[in-house]
Amino acid sequence: MENEAVKIRYSKLADDACCLSCGGALEKSSASPGEVCIDLGSGRGTDVLRLAGIVGSEGFVYGVDVTPGMIRKGKSAAEKLGIDNAEFLQSELTEIPLESETADLVISNCVINHVSRKDLVWQEIFRLLKTGGRFVVSDIYSVNPVSDQYSSDPEAIAECWAGAVTKNEYLAGVRQAGFKDVVILEESKPYKKGEIEVCSITLSGNKR
Ligand SMILES: C[S@@+](CC[C@H](N)C(=O)[O-])C[C@H]1O[C@@H](n2cnc3c(N)ncnc32)[C@H](O)[C@@H]1O
Repeated sequence: MENEAVKIRYSKLADDACCLSCGGALEKSSASPGEVCIDLGSGRGTDVLRLAGIVGSEGFVYGVDVTPGMIRKGKSAAEKLGIDNAEFLQSELTEIPLESETADLVISNCVINHVSRKDLVWQEIFRLLKTGGRFVVSDIYSVNPVSDQYSSDPEAIAECWAGAVTKNEYLAGVRQAGFKDVVILEESKPYKKGEIEVCSITLSGNKR
């Protein structure tokens, strides 16, 4: 694991009731029956289970998360609800054990900021999508470049702020992966998070 502090923080939060999201990727995704979807950094599995209901028995949803406690939580919720069109995989986002061109839709909510090699995550999203597929991702960006003091601090990165990059850097990574029609669907005003100013953002793009 590139940052053990992330696993430690989210292992503690797996059984908590606090909200972990920073945007509405699922709400903006227009998921529809029959689609295959992947939720990156699926946490307790709430969005995976909601998506499973939307895509129905002809569709399928994968939740991917690096924290074992989160995977356990998602699996047990799916079992309790009798949901059999969803699967939870414990994995880093930079190397996901799924075949290329698996999904019609990839969503992610407040996760990619944690990963130092965001370029590799975007390449994975591109690889996993079918041609014609789309992503809808909510995340944060930093208003100004984050100083080395914070951007190299594993605890601060785990707290969901110090791993943020600027908007330009973020969008460059998305476009370099090959995505077209990249659109910002929602963007907040700047607010303080940890020791920096961030904005929440929801964006979409297509693999053509
Ligand atoms: C802020 S929570 C968001 C959870 C969920 N998406 C939601 O909106 O409720 C971040 C999640 O990303 C996961 N995560 C962080 N870094 C990761 C990585 N490198 N690979 C896979 N999952 C990661 C954490 O374990 C945690 O469950």
